[in-house]
Amino acid sequence: MLLPRPDSFVRGDGALALTERTGIVAPAELMPTAAWLQGALRPATGLPLATGVIDETGGTIELSLDRALGAEAYRLSVHPTAVRIAGGDPAGVFYGCQSLLQLLPSEIFRRATVPGVEWSIPAVTLRDSPRFTWRGVMLDVARHFLPKHDVLRFIDLMAMHKLNVLHVHLTDDQGWRIEIRAYPRLTEISSWRKESQVGAGAERPGDGRPHGGFYTQDDIREIVAYAAERHITVVPEIEMPGHVQAVLAAYPEFGVTGKPIDVGTRWGIIDDVANAEDRTVQFFCDVLDEVAGLFPSRFVHVGGDECPREQWTADPRTQELMRERGIERESDVQTWFMARIGEHLSRLGKRMMGWDEILEGTIPAGSVVSSWRGLQGAITAARKGYDVVSCPTDYAYLDFRQSDGPDEPIPVAIPLTLERAYEFEPVPAELSPEQATHVLGGQANIWTEHMDSARVVDFFAFPRLCAVAEVLWTIGERNFPEFADRLTEHLKRLDAVGVEYRHLSGPEPWQTRPGIPGRPTSMDDWQRLTAELVAGIRDE
Ligand code: ACM
Repeated sequence: MLLPRPDSFVRGDGALALTERTGIVAPAELMPTAAWLQGALRPATGLPLATGVIDETGGTIELSLDRALGAEAYRLSVHPTAVRIAGGDPAGVFYGCQSLLQLLPSEIFRRATVPGVEWSIPAVTLRDSPRFTWRGVMLDVARHFLPKHDVLRFIDLMAMHKLNVLHVHLTDDQGWRIEIRAYPRLTEISSWRKESQVGAGAERPGDGRPHGGFYTQDDIREIVAYAAERHITVVPEIEMPGHVQAVLAAYPEFGVTGKPIDVGTRWGIIDDVANAEDRTVQFFCDVLDEVAGLFPSRFVHVGGDECPREQWTADPRTQELMRERGIERESDVQTWFMARIGEHLSRLGKRMMGWDEILEGTIPAGSVVSSWRGLQGAITAARKGYDVVSCPTDYAYLDFRQSDGPDEPIPVAIPLTLERAYEFEPVPAELSPEQATHVLGGQANIWTEHMDSARVVDFFAFPRLCAVAEVLWTIGERNFPEFADRLTEHLKRLDAVGVEYRHLSGPEPWQTRPGIPGRPTSMDDWQRLTAELVAGIRDE
């Protein structure tokens, strides 16, 4: 019934019906959760569901803390006269409330009164706690800007699935999406591009239509606070030293050639990268100062992936800097760069996060690795004592095509079916139990080169994100047919919310993109390519 599946679920006798007299009570420290639950239950039921501090009103839905349960864990019991939700902490209580919603008819997720529904909750006793502390999603708002409203909606969808980390990819070659007061040209220039490539592959044309957008610092504060109310941490990502074409459009002096350049309009890996001047490192440190002030997250992601080194090799000034600093190889220019950024983040009290390429050099103690090119990054990082978040392309990249059928829109890479997403295992079998403690969890990555609106994000994210959420939350055996049964129920909830997920039967006609080629790959080719890519971080 519930998704993600709870630890234990025992049906009792009878049911409880929400009525005009139902109230929600909680101790003072849980009043925000009580208010959230009231806000979630009111629109569809039309019931007042008064809230009160515990012991004063004696309501029907009782929220409480029981620290012995542990972080994020909860116990939920429904009797014919009362609902009791006890959490190990406020997050646990919140997850109990999410489960309570799923025990109600799916119409509870509608936002206006639904007449004729009996708001009845079956008697159950439920115990639940998550498998991982990092249950994440990366949302690429750089390739296609996602308006604030859609980000807030996405946060609600994450909360509904008990996901707790939103990694926002705020900057890339094709756009910069966050206001930085010290560098106004980042929003005047870098936040929009002249057009967007349509489809995958070098020969694909542009659409001739400008695209852009950015979040003001007030928007960011709102997103962070909205997420925090739902026990979601927002982890910002500022890319460097590659994927910076949009920066160079505004500030060409931070590039190797220094030449004027437009914000990127083509997808792929771009040769133009940051130079290794102290002033350029200072630019990124200045940006991170503002970012650190906006995002309370302990983790700040600084990219580090896919940085070509050809410009550094060809550039006499970079070669001179390398000699001055005793750097022999171009790969160590990136190591030098990331080390300085890492030191700065440490001074700010933050932990540096980077894509698994950062393992090619030495990285500061306490850094966290996002293992994306398969799980080699997770293996190497954990063996070296670094924490890691697993997000391997072949299980967790939700921009990949959802089947090998001909109707999948702009099909890229391998077929990453719902069933395959459900098989995602964040902890590599190669790790010892002690090494495995470095795997904080996992996340799905949603790259948006080919997702130009929230509708398309819905299509790619769901229902595969439901599978990933269960992988990251649920402890114990996995059984796909059993999951698929629960998903059938769960899709009714997504229908009520208004999520345009991919139906199990395939894309609806309006979800296809006839005539626009993607770049599909076979599984064998994908695995061979990945193995080649990670040769530089494999253990000796
Ligand atoms: C990545 O997919 N370039 C991290």
